[in-house]
Amino acid sequence: MDLIQIPSVEDLFWYVAQNVVGRLNFVDCVIYQADDDQTTLTQVAAWGEKNPFGRSIINPLVIPFGHGITGKVAQTRKAIIVDDLLESQNYIPDTQPARSEICVPLVFRGRVVGVIDSEHPEPSAFGEAELEILTTVAALAGAKLELLAEAQRSQQRYRDLLVSHDRLTEETSIRKALEAKLFEARRLESIGKLTGRFAHEFNNLLTVILGNLELVEAAATDPGSAEFVAEAKTAAERGARLMRDMLAFAQRTRLEPVAVDLNEIITKLCDTRTADPAPKVELILADDPWRIMADRKAIVSALLNLIENAHDATPSDGKIMIRTENLTHTLSDTGPLAASLPPGRYVRLTVADTGVGIPHDRLPQIFDPFYTSKPVGAGTGLGLSIVQGFTQQSGGTVTVTSEPGCGSSFQLTFPAIP
Ligand SMILES: Nc1ncnc2c1ncn2[C@@H]1O[C@H](COP(=O)(O)OP(=O)(O)OP(=O)(O)O)[C@@H](O)[C@H]1O
Ligand SMILES: [Mg+2]
Repeated sequence: MDLIQIPSVEDLFWYVAQNVVGRLNFVDCVIYQADDDQTTLTQVAAWGEKNPFGRSIINPLVIPFGHGITGKVAQTRKAIIVDDLLESQNYIPDTQPARSEICVPLVFRGRVVGVIDSEHPEPSAFGEAELEILTTVAALAGAKLELLAEAQRSQQRYRDLLVSHDRLTEETSIRKALEAKLFEARRLESIGKLTGRFAHEFNNLLTVILGNLELVEAAATDPGSAEFVAEAKTAAERGARLMRDMLAFAQRTRLEPVAVDLNEIITKLCDTRTADPAPKVELILADDPWRIMADRKAIVSALLNLIENAHDATPSDGKIMIRTENLTHTLSDTGPLAASLPPGRYVRLTVADTGVGIPHDRLPQIFDPFYTSKPVGAGTGLGLSIVQGFTQQSGGTVTVTSEPGCGSSFQLTFPAIP
């Protein structure tokens, strides 16, 4: 391994100790590392007597700055050569007493990070040449420390960048989802406002037309003209119904919420529809459904529209299923319901069928007012937008799942009365 490839500060210290002894022919080498406070030195790597078992230091010495030869070098940042340790009062003998010693500081960014120390059993073993060698080693080690610090900094920067990139991606997708929701809400709101104003005006006109037609009807003596008047009245009444639907979609109809039992409404409605042709309608009703606050007429008309839609989409050998369920959803729940409703008790009404299903790319449009796939005159495309408006006005949500060729399922979830 060469200096460039050394991956950590610890490896660097061991590399220096090993090479000072191995390649540079010193008898031993001990590296001391300074603490962050610049008060003590601790032996961290050694080659020779101090390290008989590879990379581990037996009883690493801790020397305060200013003490002994190493401590003095750390404090003064000046190299020291001692020719005869027997005459030096600064000598702190380690495992093996020696006669001469050389010690150079390891300086990095103006701070002492440690010292490189070598001892010799003979006196006067170190001179200018050794000093130059160790000073060069210290300078190289200092340069390597700088590289390591830079590598660490760029690794950290890279990690920070990854974290902020992840956060940004997450925030962007949350924001996009919120924007889409807001846009959808605004879009429907503005269509609703426009439709509401228009329907209101038009309704007034139709009332005048119908009123006058009734007067004409009463005054008409000629049976031929009575037929024309009746036809005009039927058309005006159809128009009035359409306007009522538009007002309902625009949420201009005043709802009268009362406590209702969905099972009761469904059973009654299905009893009156028993004469209906196939497909078969199956009821799966909750044993004891919680009551909800909703407008009776609005629920009936929502149910009728859902059943009619299912009916139109399902072949006569298919099946329509109406189900009620009590649901409790808690803070820890995830999923589509948790995303749109606060935790609490809910009653879910499902109308599902085994019909043609809805193409995936059409799903986002089916709640749009006037969206219909039915032939002209067969549907106004207001049914589902009224269902959605009414459910939302009642504090609930509508969700739909559909698989082309397999069928569709509409779920209306209403808050239960506490
Ligand atoms: N159960 C279903 N299966 C397949 N497609 C459906 C189903 N329910 C709704 N759709 C699709 O959604 C469209 C919109 O439905 P919606 O009830 O709003 O209007 P409509 O039924 O076309 O007209 P209207 O209800 O005003 O008579 C339908 O035309 C149909 O394409
Ligand atoms: Mg419909």
